[in-house]
Amino acid sequence: MSEPLKIKVFRYDPQVDTEPRYEEYSVDHYEGMRIWRAIDNVNEKHSANIAWRLSCREYLCGSCTIMVNGKPKLACKEPAEDGMVLEPLPYFPVIKDLVIDREIADSRYQKLKPWLLRQDDISKRQMKVHQSEVAKTRDMSACIGCLACLAVCPTIKGSWDVFIGPMYQTQLARSAFNPLDTAGRVSEAVRYGLFNCTQCGACAEVCPKNIDIPGKAIERLRIICSDEQICYPIHDEVIESVKWNANPFGRENTKGRWAEGLDLPKAGKTLFYTGCLSAFEFGEMLRASVQLLRQVGKSVAYLAEDELCCSEPVLRLGGEHEFIKNGRDLIGRFHQRGVEEVITGCSECYRAFTIDYPKYLPGVEMPQFFHISQVLAENKDKLVANKEMKGLKITYHDPCRLGRNCGVYEAPRELIRMVKGAELVEMERTREESICCGAGGSMKLSNDTLAKDVGRVRIEHAKNVGGSAIVSCCPWCEQNLQQSLEEGDGLKVMNIVELFSQAL
Ligand code: SF4
Ligand code: SF4
Ligand code: FES
Repeated sequence: MSEPLKIKVFRYDPQVDTEPRYEEYSVDHYEGMRIWRAIDNVNEKHSANIAWRLSCREYLCGSCTIMVNGKPKLACKEPAEDGMVLEPLPYFPVIKDLVIDREIADSRYQKLKPWLLRQDDISKRQMKVHQSEVAKTRDMSACIGCLACLAVCPTIKGSWDVFIGPMYQTQLARSAFNPLDTAGRVSEAVRYGLFNCTQCGACAEVCPKNIDIPGKAIERLRIICSDEQICYPIHDEVIESVKWNANPFGRENTKGRWAEGLDLPKAGKTLFYTGCLSAFEFGEMLRASVQLLRQVGKSVAYLAEDELCCSEPVLRLGGEHEFIKNGRDLIGRFHQRGVEEVITGCSECYRAFTIDYPKYLPGVEMPQFFHISQVLAENKDKLVANKEMKGLKITYHDPCRLGRNCGVYEAPRELIRMVKGAELVEMERTREESICCGAGGSMKLSNDTLAKDVGRVRIEHAKNVGGSAIVSCCPWCEQNLQQSLEEGDGLKVMNIVELFSQAL
């Protein structure tokens, strides 16, 4: 037996209590103790009568999910720890204490008819099912309906009505990937908001069955949509624009204009890849990036109007073939110009180069890719931040693509810490738990209103910690957060490069 633990538990009986309260208990602890056992001990020792759910105790039934220190966890799987705060899952009515009413969740599930549906009589003919198709369905079949993914999904937080949520999309994917099911599941997934997922990855991070929901359910469903032409007109417009204008905005290709007067070569070992959004909307930031890179000894080339879109927005809308074609063309352009390393300030582009190109273009030789924050942090001894920025309370928003997807958390924070007089304060949900700004998964292009609703959630997080500036490392986050601001927020949205340039 080791030291007793202190745990705090949400207590609320809507039949009796006017509002919820938290009660603290001491629990006898032993090595390897799980949370369910801790609650059980509290009930035995203190006659606390905490209501909670438990069935299989084997991570199979999904009934025991609760919030542990703000994160959804299976009480039968998670170790008990000192100082834990236990709460019920959000978004559902509380029946009592840690027990939520699953009625809404279960009836939504039933509505999807999550069983095999065919128009013809399957018993009348034989059908070959390829092993790879079985594998795709099997990935999705691991779902135990624990609701953990719903608790962290930023789109649901923005508006539950427009997106049914990751658990249900996983169920639809399971049926859609099953060649025996002919019930038009892909169209159903679209009706239930398939394109309103930001593909931020927060759901996969908490899934106790390690289902890659954005990568294996959402992304594949969207690819089928594109192949079968079950898309909205805006999706085709984005894909066509990337093909003909080298940007997803339907704008004339003027991607080199920001660099006028900088005297940048168009070929060289180190290339600065601007990304479409920055090239059109954040020219000053790009110019500042080049100056900072020069200060750390990186003389960069750029592609100007020859810079193709990284095509991440195309892939997010299901355009797999176009993504592969554009990717090959872009990599070819890097090779033609003798490029050995590529630096970008865009987190979407960085993800495309480091995750999606290797996945969709296996075996293709590529340069090395870096995010500008990594290059600057690596060479920080060559940068002296002289200017005092007293009173600036900075909170850093981890872009999903750079942070959770690619694991870059420290470099931007290192740079912020170098700013004299400024204070770095962390919001709720940072690093791998970060919440999307709302722009991801091409939502900024296909559903701007929803993107801003989700952005609003992040703005509130920044305000809650008294931030005077919210800094990010991605033009998509910067644009969407900026556009999600409301009068009186008293908050500046800044790019890390902008902040750092001002501090030098
Ligand atoms: S990837 Fe993000 S937005 Fe999409 S379902 Fe998962 S948590 Fe929700
Ligand atoms: S997808 Fe994962 S997190 Fe979501 S309900 Fe299923 S098992 Fe739980
Ligand atoms: S009790 Fe079944 S998953 Fe925890």
